[in-house]
Amino acid sequence: MTRRIAILTGGGDCPGLNAAIRGVVKASHGLGWDVVGIRCGFEGLLSPCDLLPLNLENTSGILTQGGTILGAASSGRFSAKTGHGQAGQIPPELIAEAQSSMEHLGISALIAAGGDGTLTIAQQFFEQGTSVVAIPKTIDNDLQATVITFGFDSAVACATDALDRLHSTAASHGRVFVLELMGRYAGWIAVHAGIAGGADVILIPEIPFRYEAVARAIERREAAGRKFTLVVVAEGAREEGGDFAVKGPMRADKEAQLGGIGDQVAAEIKKRTGKETRCVVLGHLQRGGGPTTFDRLLATRYGVAAVQMIAGGQFGMMAALRPPDIVPVPIKEAIGKIRTVPPEGNVVSTARALGISLGAASELAS
Ligand code: F6P
Repeated sequence: MTRRIAILTGGGDCPGLNAAIRGVVKASHGLGWDVVGIRCGFEGLLSPCDLLPLNLENTSGILTQGGTILGAASSGRFSAKTGHGQAGQIPPELIAEAQSSMEHLGISALIAAGGDGTLTIAQQFFEQGTSVVAIPKTIDNDLQATVITFGFDSAVACATDALDRLHSTAASHGRVFVLELMGRYAGWIAVHAGIAGGADVILIPEIPFRYEAVARAIERREAAGRKFTLVVVAEGAREEGGDFAVKGPMRADKEAQLGGIGDQVAAEIKKRTGKETRCVVLGHLQRGGGPTTFDRLLATRYGVAAVQMIAGGQFGMMAALRPPDIVPVPIKEAIGKIRTVPPEGNVVSTARALGISLGAASELAS
């Protein structure tokens, strides 16, 4: 009997998901397997099952497309609030219901492509007996156990392009521009794009900032004849002793929607320096659109590796990048704790060596 496997994409979308799906379908075809796509994450496994049979024809041409042809879902009965080990337990009877529809459909193994939330649920399926393997995706690049998740490079490219564009208008008008980027608990996008795009100040969740230090960095530039400044702020960045800037109420069962820190920083800079200041929120532009070459390749490699892991019976494992290889690692190692930017690590020390301010209190001593 032909083997039948399924793939789902959970949580928010990101560039590269379709490339991964295509990689899974092509590699499975080579082994003579059938692949079905589960629409809208784990929810699609509940009856009536929401399936899209996948084949070489309907996955042709999706390599370069953004989003996911399977649809994304970050809410519903299978939503797990995650980050810093807060993941909730999915009711075992819900997992059992999904397992019996998989059995009914002859699905012998499941590939879950997702970030911390999706992989937390995948682990619970595994512990309840499902043959599951995982593929790491998130623009935030905040998953443990892999060097890079796909989607990250595309988001950084988008943010760097935005900085390049702001650079010329900021310089022409002698203004301060604040660019608010995604990055809930981890400032990877902000620090990578900030360095690549020539930012002067980078504020990330891992280093609580002081407005005094930000204003001083701008005033120092001004004194040196640099009349404009580019400030990058991750959506999850906070003033020392402050809280996340959120849109709408905090909820126990769902991640709060972040946003607004860029405007707050811009207003405070104007107040403290008197400089004309503008804020741009890049938002979901970072998640939309097609994948970069790097992400196409990485997502395709993860997709192929997931199929190889199923063929080898390596369940409960996630495909991880350990350059130059893609290797299986236990899903358990990737979840529960977000991978954040080390404040003393190389990327931050590179920023400091370039004279970029992180808004840190320690900068006030120099
Ligand atoms: O996890 C990726 C991410 O882009 C976060 O950086 C951001 O906070 C969140 O998704 C936004 O998600 P939503 O689609 O719910 O607005």
